[in-house]
Amino acid sequence: MMPLISSTSMLQAARQQQYAVGAFNVHTLEMLQAVVEAAEETRSPLIIQSTVGTVKHLGPDYIAAAARVAADRTGLPIALHLDHCTDFDLIVKCIRAGYTSVMIDASMHPYEENAARTSKVMEVAEAAGVNVEAELGKVGGVEDDIIVDERDALLADPNECKAFIERTGVHTLAPAIGTAHGIYKGEPNIDFDRIAKIAELVEAPLVLHGGSGIPAEQVKRAVSLGMAKMNVATELRIAFSDAIKDVFAAHPDENDPRKYMVPAKAAVKRLAIEKMQLCGCVGKA
Ligand code: 13P
Repeated sequence: MMPLISSTSMLQAARQQQYAVGAFNVHTLEMLQAVVEAAEETRSPLIIQSTVGTVKHLGPDYIAAAARVAADRTGLPIALHLDHCTDFDLIVKCIRAGYTSVMIDASMHPYEENAARTSKVMEVAEAAGVNVEAELGKVGGVEDDIIVDERDALLADPNECKAFIERTGVHTLAPAIGTAHGIYKGEPNIDFDRIAKIAELVEAPLVLHGGSGIPAEQVKRAVSLGMAKMNVATELRIAFSDAIKDVFAAHPDENDPRKYMVPAKAAVKRLAIEKMQLCGCVGKA
C-alpha cells in the first residue's frame, strides 16, 4: 500500500535537480483522476491540490480518500495539498483528514503576523509530518474569495524570505514575484532577477503561483532559477468546462455525466501532461 507522501522531499529533490512538480487544483473526481492519469502516463511526481472552496464543496475526507486511492493504485509519489488557507482550524481538519501538505496564507498580514501564524501551523504540521507552504508578498488576482488588486500586489523581498524561513522553519515558500492568479490580460510581468536573488539566499523549494497562462519559456526560466512547484488552477477549470460546453452545444439533450465528463476529463489530462512537460518533472517519479 503506497500512502500519500509529504511534498517536502519531493520538492527538495525538484529544487536540487532544477525541475518543478506540477500542483493541480481539482474540483471533481474526474479532474482528480485526470491529473493522476497524466502523472501515471508520464511517470511524474504529483501534487493534487484543493482550495478552501473545494474543501467546503466536496469535504476534506472525500478528497483525501480519493487521493489515497490514487497513490495506492499508481504507486507514484503523490502529495495532497491544501491551497491558500487562512483558517488554522481548517488546516488542522485537513491534516486530520489525510492532507500531507498545507499552505497557510497569511500574506495579507504584516510580516510579524504572517510569521507568527506560519509558526503556529508549523507546530501542528511538523508533529504530523506534513509539509507547510507560506507566502511572502502578495500574488495578484483572485483565488476563491481572496482578492488582491493587481496594482497593489507587493513583491517579496529576498532578505525577508531568508529571515522568514529561518524564523519559521517553513518547508516551502511562495514568494510573490509578479505572477497573478487567473488568466493574464497581457503577458505576466515576472521579476526573474528577484527569483534568482531569493534562490541565492534560500535553499527551500520555491513555489510558483498563478501557473495558468504563463508563456512556456517563462515557466522554464522560472523553474531553472529555483521554482520547484508550479500551481495550476484556472486553465484546468477552463479546459474542463469548455469541453462540457462543447458537448452540450453539439448535443443539447445529453444528460449522462458518464458521457459529457469523458471529454472534460481528457482535456484536463492533456493539459496536465503539457504542464508536467514544461515543469520538467516527466520521468522523475
Ligand atoms: P492559476 O489559477 O493562475 O493557475 O493559479 C493557481 C494558483 O496559484 C493556485 O494557488
